[in-house]
Amino acid sequence: MTGPVTTSDGTWHPAGPADDVWEGEMAFRRLADGTAVLLVNLDGTVRAFHGLCPHQQTSLEEADLDEGVITCTAHLWEFDARTGEGVNPTSACLPEYPTEVRDGRLYVRAPATPSTDVTEASIR
Ligand code: FES
Repeated sequence: MTGPVTTSDGTWHPAGPADDVWEGEMAFRRLADGTAVLLVNLDGTVRAFHGLCPHQQTSLEEADLDEGVITCTAHLWEFDARTGEGVNPTSACLPEYPTEVRDGRLYVRAPATPSTDVTEASIR
């Protein structure tokens, strides 16, 4: 199955083969509902963060990953790649979405209401 899967805890969207994002790398994806996600593999664990920067909603498709820090290339805001917490500024964060591997595919549980603007949720 390669389409969304609805369970009691929400809708899980396929985000590609589970082994598509190698350790130390990131990949940008658009889920079927339009949600932008940034997949990050650190230490063999793939995490999914909201894929738009909370500063000006710029896509993180061109973001950099270095020593566990995600850097938005637009204005260099930085986020911890393990937690999404803001490194600079510390008042910002990237919301994290749950992930799960099923039949060799990575699934991401996106928020119930897809959003392109998470400013209120991601800037404290
Ligand atoms: S849009 Fe990302 S730092 Fe400004």
